This record gives sequence, C-alpha cells and structure tokens, in this order.
Amino acid sequence: MVGSVSLVTLTLLLNAGVSFASNDAASLAGTWSSKSNQVFTGPGFYDPVDELLIEPSLPGLSYSFTEDGYFEEANYQVKANPKDPGCPVASLIYQHGTYRLLDNGTLVLSPFAVDGRQLLSDPCNDKGVSTYSRYNQTEIFKTFDVQIDDYHGIYKLQLNQWDGSPMQPLYLAYRPAMMLPTVTLNPTVASDGAQSTDSAKEKRSLRHLVRRSLENKHRTNAVKKTPNGMLNSDMFWYLSAGMIGVGSLVFLSS
Ligand SMILES: *[C@@H]1O[C@H](CO)[C@@H](O)[C@H](O)[C@H]1NC(C)=O
Ligand SMILES: *[C@@H]1O[C@H](CO)[C@@H](O)[C@H](O)[C@H]1NC(C)=O
Repeated sequence: MVGSVSLVTLTLLLNAGVSFASNDAASLAGTWSSKSNQVFTGPGFYDPVDELLIEPSLPGLSYSFTEDGYFEEANYQVKANPKDPGCPVASLIYQHGTYRLLDNGTLVLSPFAVDGRQLLSDPCNDKGVSTYSRYNQTEIFKTFDVQIDDYHGIYKLQLNQWDGSPMQPLYLAYRPAMMLPTVTLNPTVASDGAQSTDSAKEKRSLRHLVRRSLENKHRTNAVKKTPNGMLNSDMFWYLSAGMIGVGSLVFLSS
C-alpha cells in the first residue's frame, strides 16, 4: 500500500519533468555549451576587432540565442584521422545572424554571410599553416526542446538536425546570453583599395561597439550558470523533487 503511494508520487514527478519540456524563443534564450563546458560564444571565442579566433582548451560547441531572434555559434571540433592518429584535423567556426522559429517547430539559423569565420588546421597536410577563411552555412534544426536534465540538474537544450538525428546535448551556461553585438560586424569592404585610415576608423568603432555590448550585458546581470550551483527557485524545487524521487526509488527496491 505504502509502496504504491510512492509509485504514484514518482509517476507524478516524472510527469512533471516531462511536461517541463518547451520549445519557444523564451526557453531558447541564453548561452548553451556542450558537456566539456569550455566553449562559449562571445568575445572569448572570436575577437572581431583583430579578426582572431581563440582556441578553447577543449573541443566543444556553443550556441547563443536572444528572445528577439538573434543567434551566435562557436564550434571547436577536432577530428581524429583514422589513417594517422597523430594527424587530427581541427576547426574553429564562428557564425552569427538571425534565426526563425517555424510554426511546425523547425529552427532555421541564417548567418550574416560576411561575418562567419573558419580556422582550419590540418597539421600533416598544411605544413603547419592553418587556413583562415569566411564561413557561411545556413543551419536547420528540424526540432528542439529545452528541459531540465535529470542528471546534471540544469537546463538542457536538445537540437535535432534536419534529418531528425540528435546533436550532442547543450547545457545552459549564461542567461541572458553572452554574445558579441547582434549586428553585422564586418560590412563588406566597399573597395579593395580602401584607405588605411578608413579601416583604422572602422576598427575603432567596432571595438567601441563590442565594448558597449559587453557593458550592456553586464548591466542585465548575465548570470553564470554552473552545473552544480543553485540556479533559481524553480530549479531548487526541481532538485528537491528529484531527491524525493530517488528516495522513493530506494524505498521501492528495498
Ligand atoms: C517544417 O517546415 C519546414 C519548411 O516547410 C520543413 O523543412 C521542416 O522539415 C518541417 N519540420 C517538421 C518538424 O516537419
Ligand atoms: C550564404 O549562404 C546562403 C544560404 O546558403 C546563400 O543564400 C548566400 O548567398 C550565401 N552568401 C554568401 C555571401 O556566400
């Protein structure tokens, strides 16, 4: 009898967890990072003033979204070379732009074409010289959802590729998002013979723009979310509920 009550409680808790999953712009907002928790969008990954991609200490993936339709991506991949394990190929990719949420739940990311950058390093074939180039890739996620991850006790974003196959899960790192300014950072150069004074002026205004954006971020109290930290009262409730659930499980099985 007591056992069955616990089972009901457990079922209710599980249902509560499931019903939490959501897929709107509000739940998407924030900076998300893969398990390594080393790759984040923002000025620590790409410095648009000096055109610098900064290599994180571990590979990983990060996306940021604002509620009003902007995204940013930071992707650091290292692929083992099956023929020669000593020759991994590494790539750093930065993109940002706008996103659209379709009525059927599909998420479409449309980058600002002139701003995307890729740094490709293929040490055994490029003689140690990495390739730095523009990068412009529309990304379509067929579906996505945000829910609390049972194990880590933190918001988890599951993006599913255009064919429905799941991406690696991403975890909430900052909310509001930590992002570079959500405008085109590198307007197309008007002419190849651009005066150096013009480009110096552009650099200065870009630097100003990046600094302003970060100051504004600071003012909105972007909060670093740590997997083990108490995040907010919702989260606290959920963690407590999770512990009760575990307690019931232990009771049922003993
Ligand atoms: C939603 O519509 C778009 C465009 O018609 C399509 O490409 C996508 O596969 C659809 N998504 C789902 C989940 O059916
Ligand atoms: C960027 O990609 C989009 C979508 O694939 C394409 O329509 C557009 O022409 C590209 N822009 C540039 C400058 O390559």
